Amino acid sequence: MTGPAHTVQFCALVSLLFISRCYGLFSGDGYRRNVSMELNPGLNGSVAPPPGVGLIHVRAVGSGDTLHVLLSNLGAPALLLAHTNSSSSSLRVDWPAFLSGQASGSVKVEPEGSVQFSGAAVFTRLWEYDDANDTADPEHQPASSFFPPYELQNFSWEDLNKSVNVAEHTATLCGADRSDTFTNGSFCLAFAAFESEGRGQAWPKLLHSANSSQIQMWLEGVTPRSNHSRFALELQAVSSGELRQKVDVIKSIDDEYTPSIFKLSQWASSPTNTSSRVLGYTQWKPVAYLKANPVTEDSTPCRNSEPTPQGQLPPSGLVKAFFTEEYKASGLNMSFGISGNPFYGTSEYLSWTVLLGVGSPPLESFSPLVIAIMAVGLGTPLVLILFGGIYICIRKATHQPDGYRPIN
Ligand SMILES: *[C@@H]1O[C@H](CO)[C@@H](O)[C@H](O)[C@H]1NC(C)=O
Ligand SMILES: *[C@@H]1O[C@H](CO)[C@@H](O)[C@H](O)[C@H]1NC(C)=O
Ligand SMILES: *[C@@H]1O[C@H](CO)[C@@H](O)[C@H](O)[C@H]1NC(C)=O
Ligand SMILES: *[C@@H]1O[C@H](CO)[C@@H](O)[C@H](O)[C@H]1NC(C)=O
Ligand SMILES: *[C@@H]1O[C@H](CO)[C@@H](O)[C@H](O)[C@H]1NC(C)=O
Ligand SMILES: *[C@@H]1O[C@H](CO)[C@@H](O)[C@H](O)[C@H]1NC(C)=O
Ligand SMILES: *[C@@H]1O[C@H](CO)[C@@H](O)[C@H](O)[C@H]1NC(C)=O
Ligand SMILES: *[C@@H]1O[C@H](CO)[C@@H](O)[C@H](O)[C@H]1NC(C)=O
Ligand SMILES: *[C@@H]1O[C@H](CO)[C@@H](O)[C@H](O)[C@H]1NC(C)=O
Ligand SMILES: *[C@@H]1O[C@H](CO)[C@@H](O)[C@H](O)[C@H]1NC(C)=O
Ligand SMILES: *[C@@H]1O[C@H](CO)[C@@H](O)[C@H](O)[C@H]1NC(C)=O
Repeated sequence: MTGPAHTVQFCALVSLLFISRCYGLFSGDGYRRNVSMELNPGLNGSVAPPPGVGLIHVRAVGSGDTLHVLLSNLGAPALLLAHTNSSSSSLRVDWPAFLSGQASGSVKVEPEGSVQFSGAAVFTRLWEYDDANDTADPEHQPASSFFPPYELQNFSWEDLNKSVNVAEHTATLCGADRSDTFTNGSFCLAFAAFESEGRGQAWPKLLHSANSSQIQMWLEGVTPRSNHSRFALELQAVSSGELRQKVDVIKSIDDEYTPSIFKLSQWASSPTNTSSRVLGYTQWKPVAYLKANPVTEDSTPCRNSEPTPQGQLPPSGLVKAFFTEEYKASGLNMSFGISGNPFYGTSEYLSWTVLLGVGSPPLESFSPLVIAIMAVGLGTPLVLILFGGIYICIRKATHQPDGYRPIN
């Protein structure tokens, strides 16, 4: 019995994987974009940005639409997405005005009427606090336990030319504060744009689509200012839509991609504050890693504070240049670690990954492997009964019992 049962199980597994691929059950809608990337588009010799500062433009053309993705470290590093309903929209940068830092309207996507939605995320500050009581809860710490924050707008950045990979649509911004405690440290943002749906290679292996871009942040080698230092990252969002006043937590599944993480956090923008339709989103798994090449034990939970509306635009040259009309700005702090977890000084390393996208967020589903295993486990007895039944019927139909053979 084991022989045929194993064969049936194997066939069921193979055909399930095959069918799931064919129907795109696990690969979303298969939407593809033609992606091209450029550093400092339109910049000529007349002006020069400060050392290490630049503007990366990704143009991702779909069927009848274009997603423009902009990343710049002029001021606090920012990622901006502008979605147009034209496949021929383009970016225009007035470089002298943009670099002056005061010129709103110096970065434009044209024709302006084609822009359906725009949203940005800005990495503004790194907060460090002395978590003497090991609560890992920056929101309930006395103000005196906070050190002066590292202002990301004042960082000095490594040469962007070296880290931009136009063919792979990736770039890494690495910078450091000028203070003593940061002399051996670096704050890095690894950016990636995508042509189609897939998953990141490193944990938490977020699911992305052609409508999203990813940033992995890491903070390495900073000398902690206390023996119980923990960090929090301040993130501000700007949107042409209405930013939700709450980060939604979606139950996720414990799958082979991110072991032991059951949640997906999502901060969405909607046309109005009551609509459930999503125009754009920032999405992450509430997990950070304490090593560059982590194993499961090197993960630590992260928590966000509730978003608070901001009266003014965050200190990003790109955001100030782009958002001229109606916009909403809001901010939150992402804190890393929970009570009992190692302090920053233990590994002097922290990494966290976030996805920014337009339209509906990618939906997590069970992985093909898990579904196939479940289907085989539950389905094999059924298949056996079915095939057994058919076999018996066929036998009955073709082999008439001797006793009923007509007599010549
Ligand atoms: C993608 O863009 C490149 C350059 O703009 C163009 O040569 C190519 O034909 C495009 N491919 C598709 C599939 O549209
Ligand atoms: C640089 O570009 C500006 C417009 O963007 C143009 O007016 C200027 O002549 C250009 N300078 C050079 C040296 O090409
Ligand atoms: C794009 O959207 C604008 C309104 O935002 C509309 O006026 C225009 O007709 C649309 N263009 C296309 C090609 O759908
Ligand atoms: C630590 O806990 C003690 C007692 O609960 C409290 O008095 C003190 O303010 C706390 N310190 C910090 C830094 O939270
Ligand atoms: C950071 O830069 C801003 C603007 O350039 C400046 O006003 C501020 O004093 C700087 N902060 C620090 C801590 O250097
Ligand atoms: C970066 O590359 C551009 C052209 O690819 C060049 O003009 C510029 O001088 C380079 N910048 C640095 C700092 O190497
Ligand atoms: C930075 O690294 C150098 C060489 O490893 C070391 O001598 C120095 O003490 C370090 N500085 C800090 C602030 O940790
Ligand atoms: C991406 O955007 C395009 C155009 O808005 C849409 O047709 C497609 O369904 C979207 N794909 C995903 C995975 O959201
Ligand atoms: C930090 O820990 C070291 C060694 O345990 C100790 O010598 C030092 O006094 C501590 N510093 C503070 C500020 O508590
Ligand atoms: C939605 O916006 C309206 C007007 O801007 C405001 O009065 C209302 O309190 C908001 N609702 C929520 C749930 O924020
Ligand atoms: C982040 O935390 C710091 C320290 O508690 C606080 O001053 C700041 O306002 C917070 N930022 C946001 C956007 O909530």
